[in-house]
Amino acid sequence: MLQQIDELEKSALKKISSAENEEILKAIELEYFGRKSGKIGEILKAIPTLEPKERGAVGKAANIAKKNVEAGIADRYFVLEEEKMANLEISEKIDVTEPSIGKTEKGKRHPLSVFMLECEHVFGKLGFEVAEGFEIEDDFHNFEALNFTPDHPAREMQDTFFIENEELKGYVLRTQTSDMQIRFMEENKPPYRIISPGKVYRKDSDATHSPMFHQIECLMIDKNISLANLRFILLTALRELISPDVDLRFRLSYFPFVEPGLEVDALLKVDGKEKWLEIGGAGMVHPNVLKNVNVDPDIWNGFAFGFGIERMVMIKYGVKDLRAFFENDLRFLKQF
Ligand code: DAH
Repeated sequence: MLQQIDELEKSALKKISSAENEEILKAIELEYFGRKSGKIGEILKAIPTLEPKERGAVGKAANIAKKNVEAGIADRYFVLEEEKMANLEISEKIDVTEPSIGKTEKGKRHPLSVFMLECEHVFGKLGFEVAEGFEIEDDFHNFEALNFTPDHPAREMQDTFFIENEELKGYVLRTQTSDMQIRFMEENKPPYRIISPGKVYRKDSDATHSPMFHQIECLMIDKNISLANLRFILLTALRELISPDVDLRFRLSYFPFVEPGLEVDALLKVDGKEKWLEIGGAGMVHPNVLKNVNVDPDIWNGFAFGFGIERMVMIKYGVKDLRAFFENDLRFLKQF
């Protein structure tokens, strides 16, 4: 019996050391330690049937053999793993210095980024500078200073994501780029001509709404500004940005930070037919907003407007589903 154990151990260790891969090693492991008919298990099971005086020595030898074979298998797994990694290093080696030209596809700017840059360019020519803001905003800049008092029902119009973190209590994911009107005016002296493109967030999701989307805000404050200035600036910009034959109309609406507040429609060609499409909100900046940033409304006045960038790009190129902008499907993105 002792000799049998010795032979078993030797043959096991020999097989183990020549196992070429993990599958073969696994099969060997089963052969010796399989629950049903593992060879080591068979020996251990046989011990109680031996003569009592033999049992001690055989038991001891069997246990030592078991440990040695187990250790042999574990070592071999380790060696095989090391070999595998060493091979991967060779077979999957990446030469970061190799030129990629002609081998990979060249990327390009996302259509939303392109449109925002075009806005910066076109409004730049009209004397507007770019002011960039933060996506996490406090209640004061997102709402209160824009004339949304704490319990103002107009807050309901903006399905807000509130931040629950204790440290950021009172902060929201900004719902509108109008916050930049306040931030810019707080830091600068009038007159003002700014645009502010950026990301905004609302709890909304379907073919025409995304919980994250982009807006562009425009603010012009000077002396004796009227809706005629608003119309001129907007029409000039849209004719360059979208199409030379765009026309505009204003409908009365309500936003707390403007008075009067307007809904802006643009006359555009859709599938060959002319149509009035709602493109954004606008109005004459409310005196309360100016007071909130210490600008005297008896001297200064002006207009503001805000548009959804996705909506503009959808209109410009006839995109039907807004979600296409965020799926990163190159077949879609390459068309622009
Ligand atoms: N911030 C408004 C919104 O997201 C849009 C808007 C309306 C912006 C009127 C303006 C404005 O500047 O005058 O719903």
